[in-house]
Amino acid sequence: MTNGRVAIVAGCRTPFAKSGTVYRDLTALDLAKACVRELVERTEVDPGAIDYAVMGQVIPSVKAPNLAREVVLGTGLPKGIPAHTVNRACASASEAIAEVASAIMAGHIEAGIAGGAESLSDVPILHSRKMAQAFVEASRARSPFARLKAFSKVRLRDLAPEAPAIAEPSTGLTMGESAEKMAKENGITREEQDRIAFLSHMNAAAATADGRLTAEMCAVLVPPRYEVSVTTDNLLRKDASMEALAALPAVFDRKYGTVTAGNASPLTDGAAAVLLMSEEKAKSEGYEPLAYIRSWAVAAVDPGGQLLMGPGIAIPMALDRARIGLADLDLIDMHEAFAAQVASNIQALESETWAREKLGRSKPVGTVDRDRLNVCGGSIALGHPFGATGARITTTLANELKRRNGAFGLLSVCAQGGMGFAMVLER
Ligand SMILES: CC(C)(COP(=O)(O)OP(=O)(O)OC[C@H]1O[C@@H](n2cnc3c(N)ncnc32)[C@H](O)[C@@H]1OP(=O)(O)O)[C@@H](O)C(=O)NCCC(=O)NCCS
Repeated sequence: MTNGRVAIVAGCRTPFAKSGTVYRDLTALDLAKACVRELVERTEVDPGAIDYAVMGQVIPSVKAPNLAREVVLGTGLPKGIPAHTVNRACASASEAIAEVASAIMAGHIEAGIAGGAESLSDVPILHSRKMAQAFVEASRARSPFARLKAFSKVRLRDLAPEAPAIAEPSTGLTMGESAEKMAKENGITREEQDRIAFLSHMNAAAATADGRLTAEMCAVLVPPRYEVSVTTDNLLRKDASMEALAALPAVFDRKYGTVTAGNASPLTDGAAAVLLMSEEKAKSEGYEPLAYIRSWAVAAVDPGGQLLMGPGIAIPMALDRARIGLADLDLIDMHEAFAAQVASNIQALESETWAREKLGRSKPVGTVDRDRLNVCGGSIALGHPFGATGARITTTLANELKRRNGAFGLLSVCAQGGMGFAMVLER
């Protein structure tokens, strides 16, 4: 066991892009390799000092299901670095960070890379079950006639391909429908959601203009000629306005809904990673860590209730483990899957009913200081590549905590399956 803490040495991400745009010909692996390569170069870490890699990915690449190991093999890192890939839905990169941190705390390793990637431009498109069965049967057939016969049961409707749905398998509701349900049940108004979206764009625009966010990005060269270099996020709207947001139609409940393309996180491609070390190792290698991991927690709620309320439970757990309260935080970075989900979780943290019924406490968790919340923007403005978001948030929070010479920062991520992840960083 290490006696010290787990240090966040540095982080790096690709620019994030609306899926189907600049990265449409790249894979999640390409994006993950670009940011890990840059992380290693920038930190000048001795590749031989890296003991392990964990990456998150939510919709797996069928041809490279263990993304993390392919990143090691494809970036010139020593081939003896073991690696595995995790799926905790939108909190996958946070899970990767927690797993590397656990291994460091247990004394099994001294340094590791953790992050994640997602390409919604490159999702596996499946054949129908009938069609797949016919293919399998045909591959075993001993004669051309038997091969043909295998397809005789296939009907026209079986030819339609199936793309993965962004829906909750246990309830069938999409994430957007679930956010809509939360907005309605918690009384979150359209205006409140649009304000969260507006601030996301404004804060992200300011942090991009003054170079805070661009400093965290690597350039990505794109095929076919590898002459074009992507250097900025392409979802951010510097000219976002409350009026333009208010004019957008509701998407998931067209008649009575409040969730729009403007106050939801968009479908995004991108990758992000951090370099973690034990405190002793970081110091002996001459690094000044950005921050240290103080605590973390995961929690889950019933997906049949309000799906994206996991942070409302994980946040107080992580704060308790860190032995601090909401008021001690210099910064809070909440993943914005939907503005309705951010508002609902804040409402829960400030609610006595939530405290009593869900946490078994007599008092609310505390007040969320809006001026310390998502000060560099969030997933609504920047985008949300599912597998990568946790590493983006960790990097930005650690950098901003250092910049402000703050003591504590909290991040939270809601995830499919009713899960929530929260982590406290300290300096
Ligand atoms: C909400 C969603 C369906 C919208 O998809 P989309 O229709 O492809 O989104 P677009 O980017 O084309 O935006 C739709 C329109 O809104 C406009 N728009 C989006 N944000 C805007 C803003 N802030 N201000 C003004 N206009 C905006 C776009 O310009 C576009 O206008 P157009 O139709 O005139 O071109 C999609 O982003 C989605 O599914 N998001 C949720 C993802 C999710 O479930 N994540 C899991 C989280 S747990």
